[in-house]
Order: sequence, then C-alpha cells, then structure tokens
Amino acid sequence: MRVVLKIWRQPFASRAGKFVTYSVNDVNPAMSMLECLDVLNEELIERGEEPVAFEHDCREGICGSCGFMINGVAHGPLPATTVCQLTMRHFKDGQELVLEPWRARPFPVIKDLVVDRRSFDRIIASGGYISVSTGSAPDGNAILVPKQAADRAMDAAACIGCGACVAACPNASAALFTGAKITHLGILPQGYPEKDIRAIRMVSQMNAEGFGGCTNIGECTAVCPKEIPLEVIAAMNRDYLRGSWHARDNVVRTITPFTEWSYGSKLKVDPVSESR
Ligand code: SF4
Ligand code: FES
Repeated sequence: MRVVLKIWRQPFASRAGKFVTYSVNDVNPAMSMLECLDVLNEELIERGEEPVAFEHDCREGICGSCGFMINGVAHGPLPATTVCQLTMRHFKDGQELVLEPWRARPFPVIKDLVVDRRSFDRIIASGGYISVSTGSAPDGNAILVPKQAADRAMDAAACIGCGACVAACPNASAALFTGAKITHLGILPQGYPEKDIRAIRMVSQMNAEGFGGCTNIGECTAVCPKEIPLEVIAAMNRDYLRGSWHARDNVVRTITPFTEWSYGSKLKVDPVSESR
C-alpha cells in the first residue's frame, strides 16, 4: 500500500516549522506507524536529506516515548493504542495522513515530531513517590492491600506518561496524568499517609509548568492509550482540596483552591519542611 505523509518539519525550537509532504510506497499493512516512518527515513537518508525525528523506545506500548497527532487525533484513530502499535492496515491505500507534534506550551517542540516533556518529570519529582524509612525492607505480606484498592491502583499506574492527554485537551491540562500518578500512590496503604501533601505539591508543580485547568471535557481519557478514567481527576481534586484545608495556614491564606488551580500559583511555603 501507499500513504501520503504530511509531516511537520522543524529543525529546532527557535526556527519556524512547516508541513512537508512525502509519498511512501511499498508500505506493508502489518507495519506500525513508526516502521512506516523508518521506511521514509531510509529513503530520505539515501537521498541525502534530513530524516524525520520522532521519539520511540519499546515499540510495545509500554514506555510512553512515542506519540504525535495523526489527522488531528493524539496517537491516531485506534482507541487505546499508541502510535508504535498502530498498524498501517487501519488506513486506506493512498490515504493522506497529517503528522504533527503534541501542541502544548509546556511541551515545546525540540525537532520535527519530538517535544520536550520534562515538565512531566518535574511533576513526578515534586511528589510522585512514597517516602520510606531507612532500614531493612518490610516483609512482603506485612501490609495487606484490599483487592479493590490494588485493582484501582494498578489501573491508575498503567499511565505511561506519553502526554497524549495534554495534547488532546483544549486547555492543555495535565490533570489526567497528574491524577493518575496521585491516585495510584494515594490509594495504597504505603502511599496513604502522604496523599494530601503529595496532591498539593504535584498540583502546584503542574500549575507552575503552565498546564491549563481541567474543565471536564473528557478528550484526555478518549485518546489515552491506557484508558485512564476521569475519576482520577476527581480523586486528585479531592486530595488537593483536603490537603489545602489541612495545610491552609501555610499553603493558601484564603480558601481558594480552584482559583489557585486556575491561576497556576506555586506553593508559598512547603507545609512539610515548615512543620519540621
Ligand atoms: S493519562 Fe493516558 S494519555 Fe495521559 S500521559 Fe498517562 S497514558 Fe498518556
Ligand atoms: S515506543 Fe514505547 S510506548 Fe511507543
């Protein structure tokens, strides 16, 4: 089969980009979208042209490296599928596909289809962990985890950090990603004690990175390759509200959690270090 790829080419962040159209012949329908780009890149290299830059690692839908828009849809038309697992048989012979990078201010373009997603790393670093005391590891069965909590934590932990939710959201909100990370830790007994402060820190960092607020549009969950449910955003809001209330003397002087959310202000004082 043959496809026409209209690809966003941008040599580096500060240079203007533009769409360039390529015809790729001899595409095997069993190839993935990334393998189709590999074929194109081999042709470009043979012609002495610059290959198309795109991110990938596992090519198994696990690592979250890959991702771009295909005809305006994050990760393309197939639900619950990353571009590395999207096979070309889902497109028509001769079809034109428009490939462009995630569009969001906190994800600046590095080159072509590659964007800088270190803002996600900073959200994780701000609180996406469980503090452990030093000493030997506790016995594996010492802390019992209810089945329902284990299942819901596993569902939330399926988030691979690809960023499709941000790209699909008209507000460029990272609420689904942040909610998934907050939920998968907070729902387990090991992560429960820090759930409030975790929510405050991660939501504050999310705001500081410039992501927009959630207005319940739901496009994030529709494109999410791991089908993270919207309920993680409700869980995040609940933890953030409760945490803000408990730490109100240090965090927000007035009870305006949603104003803080909307305007993206940062924590004035870290309630944990403050209480030490
Ligand atoms: S919530 Fe879904 S779309 Fe968003 S980063 Fe995680 S896996 Fe990707
Ligand atoms: S390359 Fe790892 S999820 Fe696509």
